Amino acid sequence: MLARTGGLRRQGVPRPDATRVLVVANQKGGVGKTTSTVNVAAGLAQLGQKVLVIDLDPQGNASTALGAEHHRGVPSTYDMVVDGRPLAEVMTESTDLPGLWVVPATIDLAGAEIELVSVVAREQRLSRAIEAHPLVGAAADIGEDRFDYVFIDCPPSLGLLTLNALVAGQEMFIPIQAEYYALEGLGMLLDTVDMVKQHLNPQLTISTILLTMYDARTRLAAGVADEVRGHFGDQVLKTAVPRSVRVSEAPSYGQTVMTYDPASAGALSYLEAAREIASKGAPSA
Ligand SMILES: Nc1ncnc2c1ncn2[C@@H]1O[C@H](COP(=O)(O)OP(=O)(O)OP(=O)(O)O)[C@@H](O)[C@H]1O
Ligand SMILES: [Mg+2]
Repeated sequence: MLARTGGLRRQGVPRPDATRVLVVANQKGGVGKTTSTVNVAAGLAQLGQKVLVIDLDPQGNASTALGAEHHRGVPSTYDMVVDGRPLAEVMTESTDLPGLWVVPATIDLAGAEIELVSVVAREQRLSRAIEAHPLVGAAADIGEDRFDYVFIDCPPSLGLLTLNALVAGQEMFIPIQAEYYALEGLGMLLDTVDMVKQHLNPQLTISTILLTMYDARTRLAAGVADEVRGHFGDQVLKTAVPRSVRVSEAPSYGQTVMTYDPASAGALSYLEAAREIASKGAPSA
C-alpha cells in the first residue's frame, strides 16, 4: 500500500501557467472547508506544486493542521489584512512538507471583521496583499519560483473576511457535506458570488465542488451526491472524500492526513482530489 501511494505521489502533475487562487468557502459550519483546504494543499505539494495556504478564520484550524504556531504575536493574516504588512513577512514554510507555505490566523482576526469596516478599500485588502507578492503571477514573468496555488480557508460566515477572499480569488472551491441539509443555505452563497462577480471581481468562477464526509453505505449520501451533481455538473470532482477517523485525528498531531497516514482512504481521496484539480486546470475566463 505504501509503495503504491508513494508511486501515486511521485507521478507529479503539470504546473499551471499562472498562480491559481482558490477560495474555500461555504458559510455553513463544519462541512469540511478547513480539512479540504489543508489536505488538498498538502496533496498538491506532494505532487510537486508550490502551494500557499492563507488561514482566514480566527479559529486558526488550518494553522493547527499545518503545524503552524498561531498564538498572539505570531506574524499572521491579521497583520497582512488589517495593518497592510506584506505577505512575504507573514508566511512560513511547513517543516513536514517542503513547498507548502502557510499564513497563520491568530485570534486577533476575530476583531478584523469590525475593524475593517472603517478601513480604505476594505474589500480589497487581501487581494492587494496577494497580488503584491513577487512570486504570485504568470510563469512567463516570474519563472520557476512562482506559487502554483494559493488556498484561502474562509470562516463559516459571509462577512468582510470572506468578501475579501472572494475578491482575491479567481476560483471558488465549495466543500459540501453529503448529508440531508447539504444544499440548504447554498443559495445565499451563490447570490453572494453573483454580487461579487457583478461589482467587485468579474473573473470569479465556481470551479470546484467537493463532496466531503461521504458515507458510501447510505442511500442518503448517494442521493445528495446525485442532487449536487445534477445542479453543478462538471464542477463537482469525481472523487468524494469518505468519512474517516484518520482524517479527523490528524490535526491533533499538527499534521494533515497526507503525512499522518498517507495510505489511509482519506489521504488517498484527497490526493486524488488534488490531482483532479490540477489536471482540470484553471477555468477559462
Ligand atoms: N472526511 C472526514 N472524515 C472524518 N471527519 C472529518 C472529515 N472531514 C472533516 N471532518 C471533521 O469534521 C469537522 C469539521 O471539519 P472542518 O473543520 O474541516 O469543517 P469547516 O467547514 O472548516 O468548519 P468551520 O465552519 O468551523 O470552519 C472536524 O472535526 C473534522 O475533523
Ligand atoms: Mg474551518
